[in-house]
Amino acid sequence: MVLYFSGTGNSRYAASILSRVAGDELLSMNDLMRQRLTEPYTARYAFDSDRPYVFVCPTYCWRIPRVVEQFIRDSRFTGCRKAYFFLTCGSGTGDAARHAEALCRELELEFMGLSSVQMPENFITLFSAPSFDDAQGMLRAAVAPIESAARLIALGKPIEDQNGRSGVTGSRINSLFYKLFVKDKKFTVTDACVSCGLCEQLCPLANIRLEKGLPHWQGNCTQCMACIAACPQNAIEYGSATRKKRRYYLSAEGRQK
Ligand SMILES: Cc1cc2nc3c(=O)[nH]c(=O)nc-3n(C[C@H](O)[C@H](O)[C@H](O)COP(=O)(O)O)c2cc1C
Repeated sequence: MVLYFSGTGNSRYAASILSRVAGDELLSMNDLMRQRLTEPYTARYAFDSDRPYVFVCPTYCWRIPRVVEQFIRDSRFTGCRKAYFFLTCGSGTGDAARHAEALCRELELEFMGLSSVQMPENFITLFSAPSFDDAQGMLRAAVAPIESAARLIALGKPIEDQNGRSGVTGSRINSLFYKLFVKDKKFTVTDACVSCGLCEQLCPLANIRLEKGLPHWQGNCTQCMACIAACPQNAIEYGSATRKKRRYYLSAEGRQK
């Protein structure tokens, strides 16, 4: 069973290839998280599969995103106890593998390895996204490593990370990162907004409310970049950090915005 979380489409793209090649069911953690936050009596997540669980997500500060870790902690997994992790990243995954392995140990899941692939950078509140053409090149180059991880998963073999570097991050750096960068106070909307509501619909944490047609962020943001990157009018900004910057967003069909 392939479970993915994705802000701007890279991990959804990787997950759809993984599920197709490995022949596994595909489920969106974004949808499940949203459902849990918007439907008051949604029970604890429960999954049952006789195939390994494959968690696919972006890299946030050299680890799996906290919302994904929380999702895994909040879930009950029955059937197979094997867990694979597949991360998309802009440049590297640090020691995400060591961290994911520790999580599995704690939850009594059998860690089968973490693999990753470089895909277009989406963290535009801090860095810049690549040009359209460079991103196209990265998307083409990503297919082979995703498929080769999928074949190993289908065979039940361990996978390894090519983009990792152990010792890169500790809990203190991760905590500092979330404290300094992972917030929504600086999100604003310009006059270009046409009140289409896409930002509200896409937020996996149901953190955006439309008030008088305009988005308002409610303080529970994981900086996934879905709202700012997918906005068809490019009407969302993050202070002055994103002004004049290109937005990168990959549709479910694998097309760049
Ligand atoms: C909050 C945040 C933190 C990130 N941290 C890292 C990182 O530590 N290393 C890295 O290589 N890329 C990092 N990135 C880039 C994303 O991991 C990368 O672009 C990923 O493919 C986006 O996946 P998605 O489109 O499925 O959301 C970060 C992006 C965001 C938004």
